[in-house]
Amino acid sequence: MVLTRRKMKQCLILGIAIILVICLYRTWASSIGGGVKESATQEDQIAGVLPEPLPREDAENVVQELERTRRRMAQLERKIQELEARIPVKYPDVKYLNYKNRRRILVTGGAGFVGSHLVDLLMMEGHEVIVVDNFFTGRKRNVEHWFGHENFELIHHDIVNPLFIEVDEIYHLASPASPPHYMYNPVKTIKTNTMGTINVLGLAKRVGAKVLIASTSEVYGDPDVHPQPETYWGHVNPIGPRACYDEGKRVSETLSYAYAKQENVKVRVARIFNTYGPRMHMNDGRVVSNFILQALQNESITIYGNGKQTRSFQYVSDLVDGLVMLMRSNYTQPVNIGNPVEHTIEEFAEIIHDLVGGKSVIKQMAAVEDDPQRRKPDITRAKKYLNWEPRVPLKVGLERTIEYFRKELARTNHHSQRNVFLPRHADES
Ligand SMILES: NC(=O)c1ccc[n+]([C@@H]2O[C@H](COP(=O)([O-])OP(=O)(O)OC[C@H]3O[C@@H](n4cnc5c(N)ncnc54)[C@H](O)[C@@H]3O)[C@@H](O)[C@H]2O)c1
Repeated sequence: MVLTRRKMKQCLILGIAIILVICLYRTWASSIGGGVKESATQEDQIAGVLPEPLPREDAENVVQELERTRRRMAQLERKIQELEARIPVKYPDVKYLNYKNRRRILVTGGAGFVGSHLVDLLMMEGHEVIVVDNFFTGRKRNVEHWFGHENFELIHHDIVNPLFIEVDEIYHLASPASPPHYMYNPVKTIKTNTMGTINVLGLAKRVGAKVLIASTSEVYGDPDVHPQPETYWGHVNPIGPRACYDEGKRVSETLSYAYAKQENVKVRVARIFNTYGPRMHMNDGRVVSNFILQALQNESITIYGNGKQTRSFQYVSDLVDGLVMLMRSNYTQPVNIGNPVEHTIEEFAEIIHDLVGGKSVIKQMAAVEDDPQRRKPDITRAKKYLNWEPRVPLKVGLERTIEYFRKELARTNHHSQRNVFLPRHADES
């Protein structure tokens, strides 16, 4: 057969067309996936159309690697679920404030007992709140119900070091507050109340913020005037075991008025008397937590000394109201914030014993050095200039606190059972 030039051309075109059709078919087959793969024959593999199968050893390694990845992913999923469970589904009901009324407020020591309740109140009012805390006695879980909220920020920072942020108001609460905590590292307690206060006042000066300093009834020492008005200068042992705190707070007050006079910083000074409530530290060694924990565990309720020394206790929400009212007032002199209803320690032990029930007995121990014998605020100033006085009756406050401590004790381990005390609105919803 003679192949003409024309026929050869036709054969060539036909060949190219066949190759094109085969290529198109393969592309289509690989795009529709598995079906074609399954029908792939060994000849295809030999012809190099599909990748060669992995050697047995490599294939086993791949399978093991996949199994490890699957296990790791399962672990991560569990962790994410745990973390999600800790973020509140719903934040407490926060009021909306427009930019004119909304303030940016710094609370030093905001992860502590009093600070966290103050944070709740300010957040609920709709302000932006920045908490600065070194977590010496404070805990993240005191404020964790605000984590992720657009108005809330938590900064891990020691106030002994300078801080540079923009704020309108500062509540300076950072300081260990109970005797075992402030005596644990007396030098650090002094530094916190002196250098820390200088840093806070310096920040206030730089940004023009108003500052409220959390002082204490301890500035009166073991008082020889009763009840204690703000005009009383106190009776403090400057080298006793409590001096690091008492004198630290006295210097803190002195610094505040020096900055007010010299640098025109707007300062408010609250002299806080004994306060109790939920989120108190379990082992802060103060009367209320000691007595409640002892009673809840059916242990002896221990009184140091003869029990005739007096104390007056205010519920934490009363204190927080007083702090906010003082900050917003025009009154610049120190103000006592405390409950003037006085009880002997012995009476107090009996009240708690009756509220908790149980089989505890009240026992006397040796007196503690420099333990003040009488403590009762004169709150005439707070009434007159702030229109403030405590409202929560002792029994109501104690019941809420006992409930909190009961839940704390019931926690079987640190993470599995949460005991988060939420602000009132959230609690109800
Ligand atoms: N609770 C009371 O009965 C009472 C009485 C008088 C005065 N105060 C004052 O009120 C404030 C709050 O007391 P509280 O009872 O909530 O105590 P708290 O120990 O629960 O809170 C103090 C907070 O300050 C933090 N802090 C301590 N040193 C710090 C530092 N160097 N830098 C940053 N953060 C630091 C702690 O971690 C904690 O979160 C304190 O200044 C205290 O002196 C409290």
